[in-house]
Amino acid sequence: MTKTIIEPFKIKMVEPLHLTSETERKEILENAGYNLFLVKAQDILIDLLTDSGTSAMSSEQWAGMMRGDESYAGASSFYRFEEVIRSITGFRYIIPTHQGRAAERILFGTMNVKDKFVLNNTHFDTTRANIEYLGGTAVDIPVPEALVPSDESPFKGNMDVQKLKSFIQEKGEKEIALVMLTITNNSGGGQPVSMENIKEVSAVCKNSRIPLFIDACRFAENCYLIKEREHGYSSRSVKSIAQELFSYADGCTMSAKKDGLANIGGFLALNDDKLAQQEKNLLILTEGFPTYGGLAGRDLEAIAQGLEEALDEDYLNYRIASIRYLQKGFEKAGIPTVKPPGGHAVYIDSRAFLPHVPPEQFPGQALVCELYIQGGIRAVEVGALMFGKKDRRTGIEILPALDLVRLAVPRRVYTQSHIDYVIEIGEKVAKEKEKIQGLKLVYEAPFLRHFTARLLPI
Ligand code: F0G
Repeated sequence: MTKTIIEPFKIKMVEPLHLTSETERKEILENAGYNLFLVKAQDILIDLLTDSGTSAMSSEQWAGMMRGDESYAGASSFYRFEEVIRSITGFRYIIPTHQGRAAERILFGTMNVKDKFVLNNTHFDTTRANIEYLGGTAVDIPVPEALVPSDESPFKGNMDVQKLKSFIQEKGEKEIALVMLTITNNSGGGQPVSMENIKEVSAVCKNSRIPLFIDACRFAENCYLIKEREHGYSSRSVKSIAQELFSYADGCTMSAKKDGLANIGGFLALNDDKLAQQEKNLLILTEGFPTYGGLAGRDLEAIAQGLEEALDEDYLNYRIASIRYLQKGFEKAGIPTVKPPGGHAVYIDSRAFLPHVPPEQFPGQALVCELYIQGGIRAVEVGALMFGKKDRRTGIEILPALDLVRLAVPRRVYTQSHIDYVIEIGEKVAKEKEKIQGLKLVYEAPFLRHFTARLLPI
């Protein structure tokens, strides 16, 4: 094997990037209330806001788009979609949805989560919101090392099995609607879950007759990290690792905007006949007929093809290597990150990086703003702005355990020189970090405030 890991594709279509000056960016940021969600994409140079729906599609996916069968019922594109997902997951029923959160809403809408608990390593915010909207309680039980950014444990996405057991014992199995495992654990630093952990969680759930569902958004990256890091998997194909992984669960939800390498789409997959029937009925009510579920035939083709490409090991090798490369570059520049690097993003520990900015002055968001001012880079804060809340009585901010900044890398979009540029900007920011000031909130919505908040430098 050669030392250099190359992008295993060549570029056929390009999109120009728009360069701005630092003076322009300062003005843009001020007008956007120091919130990068409110900045126009054309004013961003390198967009690392999310890896969701931002993948570059392959020539085979575009060819599939042309072949898409747009029949209302029984389209051939659906049968291809179904076959590909069934061959990876082994689940009997495959239900297309317009994206991940639609699959979540349908799953929770049929699993009676009202007044019940749902346990997860860490719920993604839409997953949590869909449970809470239906009157359920979402509980996160990650392993303790998940909350220590500098801890080098290989599977910090794992669920705390001991806590799972004691929760079931304390509340009673009837009070738990389902257990979920998010692979990789996005809100917990993009960390993978080990096969051993999945097996243990599955055994506990089976024992208590609690259904186990996988939030499979980044399953291919998780399975590749199992191959790299877990004993006994190095010579297995990533597809066979995925097949084994799904065999321990009763079903999954998936946003195909991540490891589906598609710009839109998702699905719900499961084995239970009765539940699948109820879910299809709900699907017809709000998403569409079960052979398209809110998607065009061409989208189903793009996803089917994308899922196969996401399991290509040359692609995964390059993908994981590029995340590792960015993380190493930042660490070398003195920027503390969540270790070890996961599958889709690099997360900066902003509290550790900016100790002079008090946690209630949003150090993560201050860093997000500085990355934009210095280099036109868009990252996202996953910390006090996203998860913090004002105490209704005292008005004091209740802060989350971690303050992170996520730089999510879109799949197959940026080249190594783009990443080198991001590292160079990181070095520049690190050299002058004492200048970075905290921020204060001047507007916040009552929920999911980070999307629309407006801030000012202190
Ligand atoms: N679950 C996880 C773990 C996710 O990361 C996301 C989306 C969803 C569910 C919901 O899927 O967006 O298709 O409805 N994550 C994106 C992100 C938005 O930026 O991490 P969706």
